[in-house]
Amino acid sequence: MDVIEAIRTRKSIRGYKPDPVPKEVLRDIIDIATWAPSSMNTQTWEVTIVAGEALDNIKRGNLEMMASGTLPSPDMPRDAFEGIYRQRQVDLAIQIFQLMGIAREDKEKRAEWMQRGFRFFDAPAAIILSADRSLDESWTLFDIGTISQTICLAALNHGLGTCIEGQGVMYPEVVKKYTGIPESKRIIICIAVGYPDWDFPANKLESKREPVESVTTWCGFD
Ligand SMILES: Cc1cc2nc3c(=O)[nH]c(=O)nc-3n(C[C@H](O)[C@H](O)[C@H](O)COP(=O)(O)O)c2cc1C
Repeated sequence: MDVIEAIRTRKSIRGYKPDPVPKEVLRDIIDIATWAPSSMNTQTWEVTIVAGEALDNIKRGNLEMMASGTLPSPDMPRDAFEGIYRQRQVDLAIQIFQLMGIAREDKEKRAEWMQRGFRFFDAPAAIILSADRSLDESWTLFDIGTISQTICLAALNHGLGTCIEGQGVMYPEVVKKYTGIPESKRIIICIAVGYPDWDFPANKLESKREPVESVTTWCGFD
């Protein structure tokens, strides 16, 4: 697949077929993705790939945490979005809820949708990206960003869909319990992976982008 086509084809997939993803395929994706750039080639990423019973345990553990009212305490917490960023977040939610037929006031269905994220959107596999706590946080995040996108692009080559998601690792204690990732590592993000269910309404989402002129400043051009 041509690189431009891959970039334009990739989208977040939030509904998957149950078919398992072969280990060799996942291995090939990581093999390609580790060619992503990193700060001074430090390759700060650590990759944990979870499927089967281990992933089922994490999905269940996450839902139990939610049901018990335990507040998430991710290894990489973030502040709430404000202003235009909040607006874009709301726009995305409106698009998803419209496709899924979830009414704004339907708290139950909204909660169900939230749970879906904590279940890795029912994907058969998840890639957990973590890094050593001794590392500088901001540069490491940059490295994890480059490998994340590269994983998502490489996955397309195998007909796989992905969704980079913070939700799956909001309870790092659950993920660590069932993967053996030690406390000395910071779990940064995860990526749900599987064969897309194209009949799933949210997969029809066409997310928006700002035009070039609104994100670009030209200097030294006529
Ligand atoms: C760092 C990061 C965290 C994300 N976390 C979530 C998440 O928790 N749940 C979710 O549904 N999507 C999540 N996404 C996916 C974004 O919502 C998605 O990339 C964005 O809406 C653009 O849509 P696209 O990926 O289809 O182009 C995340 C993406 C990134 C880069």
